[in-house]
Amino acid sequence: MVNKKLNWSGFARKTPAERAAYLKEHKLLSDDSQQLLADEELLSLSRADQITENVIGRLALPFSIAPDFLINHQVYQVPFVTEEPSVVAAASFAAQIIKRSGGFTARIHSRQMVGQLAIYDVTDKEKAQEAILAQKSHLLSLANQAYPSIVKRGGGACDLSVEAKDDLILVYLTVDTKEAMGANIINTMTEALASPLEELSRGRTLLAVLSNYAVKSLVTAECQIKLRFLSRNKEQAQVFARKIALASQLAQADVYRASTHNKGIFNGIDAVVLATGNDWRAIEAGAHAYACKDGQYRGLSTWTYDSDENSLKGQLTLPMPIATKGGSIGLNPSVRLAHDLLGEPSAKELAQIIASVGLAQNFAALKALTSTGIQAGHMKLQAKSLALSAGAKEGEVAAVVSQLIETKPMNLEKAKAILSDLRQQNAHSSQK
Ligand code: HMG
Repeated sequence: MVNKKLNWSGFARKTPAERAAYLKEHKLLSDDSQQLLADEELLSLSRADQITENVIGRLALPFSIAPDFLINHQVYQVPFVTEEPSVVAAASFAAQIIKRSGGFTARIHSRQMVGQLAIYDVTDKEKAQEAILAQKSHLLSLANQAYPSIVKRGGGACDLSVEAKDDLILVYLTVDTKEAMGANIINTMTEALASPLEELSRGRTLLAVLSNYAVKSLVTAECQIKLRFLSRNKEQAQVFARKIALASQLAQADVYRASTHNKGIFNGIDAVVLATGNDWRAIEAGAHAYACKDGQYRGLSTWTYDSDENSLKGQLTLPMPIATKGGSIGLNPSVRLAHDLLGEPSAKELAQIIASVGLAQNFAALKALTSTGIQAGHMKLQAKSLALSAGAKEGEVAAVVSQLIETKPMNLEKAKAILSDLRQQNAHSSQK
């Protein structure tokens, strides 16, 4: 069902009700999720109160679809939660081009999480390290006894290493957390190891917690874009491909650009991480640390122009400790809907989808930046936001937008003036 050929062209111009009808027609959601779409109050106040603390209300964000991501020969309709219209437009645009070019290839390097314990006041650090390593299998079994349910699911603590850093002894516990992100599992396990490690090292525990530097959960997404999709004009397409490759080099060399380049990647990644109920702070923290793994902050993706194959090759590798179980994933109805829309992927599959989205988002931004400039595509979308901010009602938005686009520079004042003129004209013609 997920791979059925669909025509998403013009989806952006449909109303929400028409979009819901389209999903229903093509059976892209379960019956329960389809019903949820019509529910104005997806997250009730009482459910919100169960999810977190001190709740007084809810903050709703638009829930969109970026259609037709072809990843490892499978098509996904990707849930996007973001307030930024051009992010959804750009992702949809890039997905379309990359699908026509053969889609994304994505792979997981490994899917494990690491916990870290720091021990201080150790008098003989060498002896302490030896004593800890000599008890490695015992310590692993203590960790697993502290969280037996993950062992039952086929995961659990699988490795332990130790090093001395400054005045501290650092112990690293590697855990296969299966479908969970693993914060609770690892925090429980590392805390259970604190006392035995103090005995072995004759030191004291400073802290015991999951590390968000999730380099044992790396994922890579790649794509190869045919040059004809950059421009119908062959020479111009080559110029664009060269410029995108140069922009990618700039993001490797310069931190001012690297930061913005990566922000563009996270426009898409955060939207899916949020939609799927995951901890976006953890994903951001891990990826930004990974972006400076060699001591300099760099762009996470690279683009190269292959003149022999007449294509532009993109690659993105980053830590993606994403979950499909745990946290608020089972509690928030919108989040359940997002997993349903994706066809209930496993954590590994979801990580590959998210990395592909990041690469697509990055491509769209670079293409716009190196061709028309970023503002051209934003104008129409910005005009809609300005019309709404000026107070335009549903029936007035289109008329305000079409006049506003002709106005330079566009701003709220102009939007208000156009709306006021429009209302006067409407009042005038209804008096006639
Ligand atoms: P366009 O060529 O004018 O698009 O690009 P189009 O009107 O020809 O439409 C082509 C397709 O794009 C559509 O196909 C849709 O799939 C999609 P169709 O349905 O017509 O067959 N599309 C849309 N989907 C949903 N809603 C829409 C919509 N419009 C087009 N309203 C576009 C227009 C905005 C896509 C392009 O200019 C673009 O990709 N711009 C980049 C925008 C962007 O990256 N925004 C992010 C915010 S800027 C930022 O935060 C990051 C940055 O600083 C990062 C960096 O520096 O690297 C830029």
